[in-house]
Order: sequence, then C-alpha cells, then structure tokens
Amino acid sequence: MIPETAHFVRDLFGYASLGFNRSRLARWGRGDDYTNEKYRELAISTADRIHPRAMNLRVVEIIDETPTTRTLRMQRIDGPLPPFSAGQYVNVFITIDGVVTSRPYSISSAPGVPHLDLTVRAKPGGFVSGHIFHKIAVGDELRTSGPSGWFRYERLIDGDDLVFIAGGSGITPFMGMLRGFAGRNDAPRIHLLYGSRTPEDVIFDKELKKLGPRLRGLKVTHVISEPPKGFSGVTGFLDADRIRKSVGNIEGKMFYLCGPGAMLDLCRAALKDLGVGMHRIRSELYGPPEDVTSIGAWPPNITADRVFQVQVEGRSAFDAAAGEPLINSLERNGVVVPSVCRSGECSACRIRLLAGEVFMPPGTGVREADRSHGYVHACMAYPITDIRIRL
Ligand code: FES
Repeated sequence: MIPETAHFVRDLFGYASLGFNRSRLARWGRGDDYTNEKYRELAISTADRIHPRAMNLRVVEIIDETPTTRTLRMQRIDGPLPPFSAGQYVNVFITIDGVVTSRPYSISSAPGVPHLDLTVRAKPGGFVSGHIFHKIAVGDELRTSGPSGWFRYERLIDGDDLVFIAGGSGITPFMGMLRGFAGRNDAPRIHLLYGSRTPEDVIFDKELKKLGPRLRGLKVTHVISEPPKGFSGVTGFLDADRIRKSVGNIEGKMFYLCGPGAMLDLCRAALKDLGVGMHRIRSELYGPPEDVTSIGAWPPNITADRVFQVQVEGRSAFDAAAGEPLINSLERNGVVVPSVCRSGECSACRIRLLAGEVFMPPGTGVREADRSHGYVHACMAYPITDIRIRL
C-alpha cells in the first residue's frame, strides 16, 4: 500500500501536469480542433487522464458498515485518480466463475481525497454483490470504468435547498456529496430522508451523526419499514404523506432520488402528488428493475421464467429467460457486450435487434435514431419472443 500522503502528492502533480498540458493545447490549438497530428496525441492522452476509460485500483482497506454492507477503500495503481463529481459511479469489471460481467457502483468517497470508496451491499442471491462482499480482500486489484453519470449537484440549476431521498444502499452517492460539502461555507441546505428495512441496515449511521455539525443545517430523517418493538421514529415507506410531513413546504426545493426501482417509482408518484415538477427531481436508477414483470406494460401472458432462443449473428444460439436482462444471459454464454451504466442510460451496450421482439421498460433512454434502426440496450432488453441480434 502506498501511503495516502504519497498518493495525494502524486495526484497533485498529476493535476498540475494536466493543467500544463491544457495550456499547451490552448496555445497550439485553434479552438477545439485537435485533429492536427502535431498535438493530437497530447490531446488524446490529456483527455484520457481526465476521463480515463478504465482504471486499475487496489483494495487497501475494507470497512464493515453493516452486517451485509462493506466499503472497499481503493487506491489507483495505474495513474492519479481522475477528477470527478460527487454522485458519479464507476462500473466494476469482474470475472466470476468464468463469466465476464460488470456492475456500476456509486462512489461514496468525496472528490479530492487520495482514495476511492465503493460501498457494496450483498443482495440476497446477488451474483456480483455477493462475490464482492464475500471474496474481495485487501490487496486485491479491481478494474473499473472511469467515473461516469449525471447524478450530481449543479448549483446554478439546483439552488441551495436540497432534499435527498435514499433507499438502502442508494445512500452511497449522497454520502459522496455530503462528504464533499462538509466544512464548506457555501454548502447547500440539505434534508436527507433515508429509508431502511431495520435500524441495523442503516449505512453510515455514525458518520451521518458526525456530519451534522459540519454541514449547514443537515437534517436526517430515517424511515424504517420493519421497525423493532418500541421504535419511536418514522416507520413505513417513503410515500407522499411521509415526505410531506418530513419536508414541509416543497417550494424551491430540489429533490434527488436514489434507491431500488420500486422505491423510485413510489417516490416519483409521491412527489408528483405533492406538485413537484419533473424538472425539480433528479434520480439515479440502480440497475435493471428487480421484477420486470411487475411493470404495467409487461405482456401479461409471459412469465419471467419463460425461455426464448437468442441467436447472435455468427455464433451459436442459446436460451434466455424472459425476466432477465439480455446482457446477463449474453455474458453467461460468453458474449461480452461493452457496458457502463447497466441502467439503460449510456448506450454503451446497444445491440441491433434483427428479428423478434424485446421488452424495454418505459423510460429506457434509447435515442430515437437508434430506435428507428432497430437498436436496443442489452442491459434493459428482455426477450419476449425468439430473437436474432447483431453485436
Ligand atoms: S450499459 Fe449503459 S445503456 Fe446499457
């Protein structure tokens, strides 16, 4: 393990040299045109250091947060940590029992510190989260994407009166933001509503208490869905009534949502009921829906375990369950599709549907031009007939 101070100094020099490169590029370039051979390489290497496609990280510490949640504290071993915005995520590339796959996890550490934290809850039956929780040890190396995503605070648009609504491990991007705001005089006012199953499932409980005095007026309201006997706090789920009672006047507030799909649906409907416009809501979806068949538009005659044939052009066909995202069955059959968000938003996993039909949940962000040419996002596509695809 390299001492944190050494990492800090290295990152500082890394940023300084990036600044130097940028001023050289500004001197040489004409506007944003870096196609000239003379400075193209410098432009590419500078961009790659600011927005690396991939990073190699070593786990230097594992912090037990709850009985089912751990934080992997990591240092980058192939360069300085790139700048990022609190709230962004990285996609962890991993091979488990011969299956090459990946999962996005929000960064729970603040920007500007010499390590990167990922806080992972082991979901029951979670193929990747279970592996990370049980198998990853100090000293192991992980490969991830560079920081990505749009779930972040934009002061000019969002103002300085924020409501964070988190469910379960959906607290992690908020933790990155809260840590980043701590101690700053210009920190926004924040009310965190945090839904957990039991008090033992609350992640970062102690740190949230300590952060209060360092954050101008941070208010935390826990909402517990399975409270123990004698529990005196707010109980149940985050519905309109509980949000209104906790938050009070919604005027001028910006709402951020992160958690399981069912919670997001409930909270979006609740905020709509309260009269909050869509432009006052930012949300981060954590992967595909837990049960795609529960979505209203799902064809009622098809069960989750119904099997369809998937023919990848130029390869042999395999069977895939209707209720599983296509990207998972592709990976299990040795077909690796590039992916970053695994939530339908980034387009990295787009494939062409040549024949047959897939279901994509409403709101999946396929561009109109892609849709008209038959492209679908494999991370949010569910086969509902036999299909033929091209990678
Ligand atoms: S991985 Fe981002 S849209 Fe599928």
